[in-house]
Amino acid sequence: MNERFAAVEIISAKRDRLELSDDQIDWTVDAYTRGVIADEQMSALLMAILLNGMNNREISRWTDAMVASGEKMNWSKLDRPTVDKHSTGGVGDKITLPLAPLVAACGAAVPQLSGRGLGHTGGTLDKLESINGWKANLSSDQMLKVLQECGAVICAAGAGLAPADKKLYALRDVTGTVGAIPLIASSIMSKKIAEGTSALVLDVKTGSGAFISDPKNATLLAKTMVDLGKRAGVKTTALVTAMDVPLGLTVGNSLEIRETLEVLAGGGPSDVVELTLILANEMLAAVGIKPKVSPEQALKNGMAMDVWQKMISAQGGDNDAPLPVAKEKLEITASTSGKLLTLDAMKIGVAAWRLGAGRQKQGEVLQLGAGVEIHVKPGDMVKSGQSILTLHTDDSTRFARAQEVLTGAYSIGGSDDIVKRLPLVIERIEG
Ligand code: URA
Repeated sequence: MNERFAAVEIISAKRDRLELSDDQIDWTVDAYTRGVIADEQMSALLMAILLNGMNNREISRWTDAMVASGEKMNWSKLDRPTVDKHSTGGVGDKITLPLAPLVAACGAAVPQLSGRGLGHTGGTLDKLESINGWKANLSSDQMLKVLQECGAVICAAGAGLAPADKKLYALRDVTGTVGAIPLIASSIMSKKIAEGTSALVLDVKTGSGAFISDPKNATLLAKTMVDLGKRAGVKTTALVTAMDVPLGLTVGNSLEIRETLEVLAGGGPSDVVELTLILANEMLAAVGIKPKVSPEQALKNGMAMDVWQKMISAQGGDNDAPLPVAKEKLEITASTSGKLLTLDAMKIGVAAWRLGAGRQKQGEVLQLGAGVEIHVKPGDMVKSGQSILTLHTDDSTRFARAQEVLTGAYSIGGSDDIVKRLPLVIERIEG
């Protein structure tokens, strides 16, 4: 095939801070998906994009080209409006798990395409795989069937959906180019647009445990994605939310499923419940549903739990099987008494990763019971010798590396010291 451009011209243009034309962008994304542009050339271009940025037109065209690289899903056979939520990724962020069945219990359809862990952040599919028999890979027909029967489905994106993103995502992961706003925005939004949801609520994380730690950049990312959604006809709202401290009291696959079940049973940690309810109300409002039973009631009265159990068994999961438990445990205790002032999300996320909850290389088998259990959160009083964290792993040789990263992961001060935390919801952006 006679190619319209040469990759080196495109790389040089971005290196020299020039704008790429629509034709250049269309060709680049298509040629990379076809294997005409080599990984080393695309790596150079991704780094040039990370360093020199893209304007809104370029980001929008790049996103459209990624959508066009694959198929688009269609939910017109459903009798309820579709709404999805996407988080940019955090530590202990299990919100999708209680949220999808909850929003379905309140009347919307939730086609939730989720991912695997990336770096120090956990992945919804990995968490669900700690349920015996549960299957992440469904065909489009199977996905539609689960949605029709249960109102919600959480599964992996099929190979045909935004294949350009699959290649680019894997390359970004190993070339230090994950953190570029144009690349994150186009990666997330291309999948959501191809997924065919009518409305979308984005949870853009900021703080030490997020990919974008500076709240100003998180707001810019949120605005960029809301704008991309609007252009594509998807009603998109974004909340910028705190990820300075892990969400909830568990980080790690089966540990987070256990906490999800607590939330669906009407209990669970207050921050997880609060964010789940805020996002549920946003999702229902986005599709104009005023539920007869409020999300708060649906958590308390078992309606959300019923949808969860149906959804898990529709995907082969055994709701009655015990969850995996790690073989070894280690308590981390307070060396002094006082008020817990900080608990660093990034350090806890990396510790869970090193204990076996995350992958060190692509395709690695996870320890589903591994992770970190948190016993106190900033603002709580602790006594000397009290347990702050419990580390879980199947392999006790992993404790040393986890403990290494936990140095300085928390601080204890006097009872009058003020806890400095980001508010749970920092900003709301509507399209
Ligand atoms: N999630 C995605 O799907 N893509 C990114 O680039 C980052 C988080």
